[in-house]
Amino acid sequence: MTDEARRVEVSQDGDIAVITLDSPPVNALSTALRRRLLDAIATANDDPTVRAIVLTGAGRGFSGGADITEFTHPPQAPTLHDLLDRIEGSPKPVVAALHGMTLGGGLETALACHYRVAVPSAKVGLPEVKLGLLPGAGGTQRLPRLVGPEAALEIITSGAPVGAEAALAQGLLDAVVDETDLRGGAVAFARRIADNLPLPRVRDRDDKVAAFRGKREIFDAFRKANARRFRGFDAPGVCIEAVQAACDLPFEAGMARERSMFAALLGGQQSAAQRHAFFAERQAAKTPDIPETTPTLPIRRVGIIGAGTMGGGIAMVFLNVGLPVTIVEREGDALERGTAAIRGHFEATARKGRLKPGDVETRMNLLTGALDLAALADCDLIIEAVFERMDVKKDVFAKLDRIARADAILASNTSYLDIDAIAAATSRPHQVIGLHFFSPANVMRLMEVVRGAKTAKPVIATAMKLAKTIGKVAVLVGVGHGFVGNRMLAARQREANKLIIEGAMPWDVDRVLYDFGLPMGPFAMADLAGLDLGWTKEESSRSTIRDILCAMDRRGQKNGRGFYDYDETRKATPSRIVETVILDFSAQAGVTRRAISDAEILERCIYPMINEGAKILDEKIASRASDIDVVWLNGYGWPLYRGGPMHYADQIGLDHILERLKAFEAEQGADFKPAALLERLVSQGKRFHEV
Ligand code: 3HC
Ligand code: NAI
Repeated sequence: MTDEARRVEVSQDGDIAVITLDSPPVNALSTALRRRLLDAIATANDDPTVRAIVLTGAGRGFSGGADITEFTHPPQAPTLHDLLDRIEGSPKPVVAALHGMTLGGGLETALACHYRVAVPSAKVGLPEVKLGLLPGAGGTQRLPRLVGPEAALEIITSGAPVGAEAALAQGLLDAVVDETDLRGGAVAFARRIADNLPLPRVRDRDDKVAAFRGKREIFDAFRKANARRFRGFDAPGVCIEAVQAACDLPFEAGMARERSMFAALLGGQQSAAQRHAFFAERQAAKTPDIPETTPTLPIRRVGIIGAGTMGGGIAMVFLNVGLPVTIVEREGDALERGTAAIRGHFEATARKGRLKPGDVETRMNLLTGALDLAALADCDLIIEAVFERMDVKKDVFAKLDRIARADAILASNTSYLDIDAIAAATSRPHQVIGLHFFSPANVMRLMEVVRGAKTAKPVIATAMKLAKTIGKVAVLVGVGHGFVGNRMLAARQREANKLIIEGAMPWDVDRVLYDFGLPMGPFAMADLAGLDLGWTKEESSRSTIRDILCAMDRRGQKNGRGFYDYDETRKATPSRIVETVILDFSAQAGVTRRAISDAEILERCIYPMINEGAKILDEKIASRASDIDVVWLNGYGWPLYRGGPMHYADQIGLDHILERLKAFEAEQGADFKPAALLERLVSQGKRFHEV
């Protein structure tokens, strides 16, 4: 955006000056905007006809905060601190008038104003923690003075926005005004308080923090209570320290602490990774060869085939946003089980207070069960979630082709299979697409949108738009076994399986990957998914450890034993029986087991994934390295503070990864053969993100 587009509009309403931030899309506080705002405040202060100033924002919200794109350069004057000092020091009262989102530096600006009013739908928050930062323009010092350290800790460490009514109750806002007339309400408020002296400045408040001075234990307890939520992240702990400083130190000293802690976080790898993730997610929504003007098809009714684990979860995704769903099963029992599971899930959510009791029925009333595909004749979108077998999928699609409306989108939730082969079972391959949800579908944010060779652009555009409606992050990928996520996962699984035969135990591998920041390791994950997925007694060859465990009726968490033993609370303990199975397996394979270091486990599991990612990029299955990161962050719980596997690779250095892959190739063979793209980038001194 050009600097000219970063405007500040000034108008006057009688004796009140109204300054409006007008810098689409989110009024980010860029250098140009700060400069203009500073000038506008000075002009209003110089104007003798002005008694008070209202500061508001045009467009969808007051402000999305500091301009994150400027964080990679040294700050330019006037800094946000300069600006906020000037606002707070204004001799005429400044009233912040908030609507939409007021986030980060935007809220810090409002906190530096003398008063804050908002419309009921407004939301305010300090999401810096999500970018690996702390609020660095006084947020950690002013917010606790206004709402007390306990509420401030929650707001600052969660990054979650607070609604206007709650903010009013906490003391963050001074008034909530009519939804339809923010300007009028704010001007009237400004006129009422125009002559009140002295001007209230948040920095001067002590009443809400005094009682917490020197009370270290309160902050330690908060840290402890949230240890799981904060695991691995640097920023939340630093945010807590900053809030503690607001209680312990005078305002200016607290500000100095905040400033140095912000600088340290900003220069760190975690914030770089988290900022990368922020932009990567927004980038993924852009599909270069499909212009924004591409027509999309209205989705008013959704059909789902298969009411198993995925079909049920996918149904909930649509029911949650009020779209009617027809779900088809083969037999009455399966249909009943499937719909009961959906109801059970909604009821459990209601019991936890996350759904109103009436909402359960509203959702269930939108669900229709059927045993015949003919029930899907009027659906705009039909998603198949039957068994992962090509013959079954082809059969379903051939039948669907005869039943579905000509303009209906036919989608498969297949994890691995060839969408083009599935599409070929129909007479309309241009209407066929992959919509790969992740388990549990109603929780995981990722949706891989798989583009077949013949998929029409409006079908892709519709899928990308639909993702926003249902709250998913869509990544457009090409056809290839396992697409992006599962293909890379398979490389990791291969190594994990080899490692336990060579000398590690499943719990060693799991511990290393958990400590790296993943929610669980491959063996705990296998136990959770069920070891017997795709396994049958008849076809069992007892050629893998997993196969042997299934034959021993060790099926994973579902029957209390898999790689681990589980108690009634599903707490896992390493299984001595499994240990013996593994030792015997190694012996029979003629392997002399050896001690394997944690460093080797990590490299052997992660580097082949990155290598696979490089192949995926080279084959154009993914169009950007950052898309691969979005897949792993949102579908597999890759730790946000490591930015995704490709960003991680760029951070540690592609030359190092290439060298390690070559070393493993020499020891272990072709599984580690470096991808051509990796070799090329290293020879050019480039990174994945430059591809
Ligand atoms: N700086 C720069 N660009 C920003 C931005 C910001 N703070 N916030 C959003 N954008 C850009 C996005 O990158 C996107 O650009 P694109 O169109 O080129 O992809 C565009 O604005 C629109 O963003 P969204 O697609 O996210 O729009 P939504 O309407 O869905 O959401 C929002 C708007 C809720 C404001 C969301 O963009 C958001 O959460 N932004 C980040 C908020 C944030 O983290 N603020 C803190 C910044 S750090 C800070 O203030 C430091 C201070 O303490 C010193
Ligand atoms: P599941 O076995 O839990 O459910 C499949 C359901 O489809 C069963 O209820 C079965 O009765 C029904 N079904 C089979 N043939 C049918 C037909 N012709 N008509 C109507 N219903 C039929 O399987 P799950 O796990 O839900 O997997 C479904 C699909 O989703 C598979 O393609 C799988 O690869 C994919 N997937 C699975 C994930 C997982 O973690 N379970 C994750 C992402 C995708």
